[in-house]
Amino acid sequence: MSEPADPAAHPAQQGHEQGGQRGPGQTGQTGQRGPGQTGHGRWEAGAAELGRRLYLVMNCLVAPRPIAWISTVDAGGVANLAPHSFFTVASADPPLVQFTSIGRKDSLRNAEATGEFVVNVVPWRLRLAVNETSIDAPPYIDEFSLADLTSEPSAAVRPPRVAQSPGALECRLVAVHSYGDRPASGHVVVGQVVHVAVDAGAMAADGLPDLRVLDSATRGDRMNWYRMGEGESIERPRWADRS
Ligand SMILES: Cc1cc2nc3c(=O)[nH]c(=O)nc-3n(C[C@H](O)[C@H](O)[C@H](O)COP(=O)(O)O)c2cc1C
Repeated sequence: MSEPADPAAHPAQQGHEQGGQRGPGQTGQTGQRGPGQTGHGRWEAGAAELGRRLYLVMNCLVAPRPIAWISTVDAGGVANLAPHSFFTVASADPPLVQFTSIGRKDSLRNAEATGEFVVNVVPWRLRLAVNETSIDAPPYIDEFSLADLTSEPSAAVRPPRVAQSPGALECRLVAVHSYGDRPASGHVVVGQVVHVAVDAGAMAADGLPDLRVLDSATRGDRMNWYRMGEGESIERPRWADRS
């Protein structure tokens, strides 16, 4: 894993790990409101005024985010593991997922080199191990050993799965969309899911994974992580039912 040596030199790139001291649930003035308030009582700011701080603001407003624990291997077979919360499902057909590397990191380089990656599900109980794998270790370090994790072979791709994780999406690289070559430029990595593995105990009676059992952790504002909270099932409205 490679990061700029001086975090302060690239505050936006460090934004996934940095960005404030307040914990979950705490509100109030930050003391750094930045650009002004309007008469409507809203804090407003143009992107240009915020500069690199915009990235931290976006992380607060686009939250919580699921965390993809990305396992890859380099050309020589050395495994790599790192969390990415700029992650989502990107298409149903074809079945695509995407994660974004802020700057060119090892997960991106390995996915490009081998054409494969695995998205491992992050349960709350593993959050400290996941965090450990975000360390800016050199590329030859295998974060599985670093974080005392066990790897298990994937079914369809070379990067191993995290044995302790309750679910995995094995992916083949489809595209990398790069938005510049600055230290904090985004490189959106798109992969097609070719195989799925879920702990038998995490499968519900309806044949779908049970999110309550997966107990997924999410990334929120600043340095904060959040656990699955309350949920409710809500049917979508159908126009046909109203006419
Ligand atoms: C919860 C969490 C989410 C993160 N999300 C991202 C992300 O979406 N993109 C990114 O580039 N870095 C993200 N990071 C930081 C990377 O994990 C970190 O830079 C890591 O060293 C990259 O590893 P690699 O060089 O092996 O790919 C995140 C870190 C944490 C703890």
